[in-house]
Amino acid sequence: MKLWLDTAKIEEIREIASWGVLEGVTTNPSLMARAGTADRKSVARTIDEIVGGPVSAEVISTDAEGMIEEAREILTWSPHVVVKIPTTEEGLKAMKEISKWENGRINATLIFSANQALLAAKAGATYVSVFIGRLDDAGQDGMEVIRETAAIFELHDIPAEIVAASIRHPRHVIEAAISGAHIATIPYAVMKKMIKHPLTDVGIVRFLEDWKKVAG
Ligand code: E4P
Repeated sequence: MKLWLDTAKIEEIREIASWGVLEGVTTNPSLMARAGTADRKSVARTIDEIVGGPVSAEVISTDAEGMIEEAREILTWSPHVVVKIPTTEEGLKAMKEISKWENGRINATLIFSANQALLAAKAGATYVSVFIGRLDDAGQDGMEVIRETAAIFELHDIPAEIVAASIRHPRHVIEAAISGAHIATIPYAVMKKMIKHPLTDVGIVRFLEDWKKVAG
């Protein structure tokens, strides 16, 4: 399973990229607002320079025509930029058109059911983003949607990659990997928690103390 970072904050992306495990980044209008910028182009380009992998930038339009027009521009911003399209009726129309283009890389976003994932994949999405945390928040089982989507894609040889999105804690990452997600897009704070374990810290202290006993 590939590991992406879910943020538009450049300093967070630089830090996690320095670990050598980062394979992509997702942004959305809310994450742009949190990063304090509306300059999607510059953010996407900078991220691509740092990561050299898929960078999702989301359309603002809600009608197919507007989404297609925005996608035409967004997809020229960098070699790895992926256009994020909401999974609505208008979104499907836009995905179908954009997927015909040579550079038509699409991340179908705001997916809350396996049916939406199936429709987005049929419309030509490269990635389908299932929002597990928001489903859990609403009292549903987000991971079940990942499991169902993974089973359907496997059974019917559907090439779209499943992105576990809206991740809330490190356990979500493990469960997404076991459930068949191809990618997890992870918030910075969760990524930092994934590397931490108190026993690792205690272990280092003990090793150094013991080493001092023999090495002086
Ligand atoms: C995915 O690409 C989205 O940016 C993201 O995972 C949304 O997560 P949220 O529910 O934390 O806003």
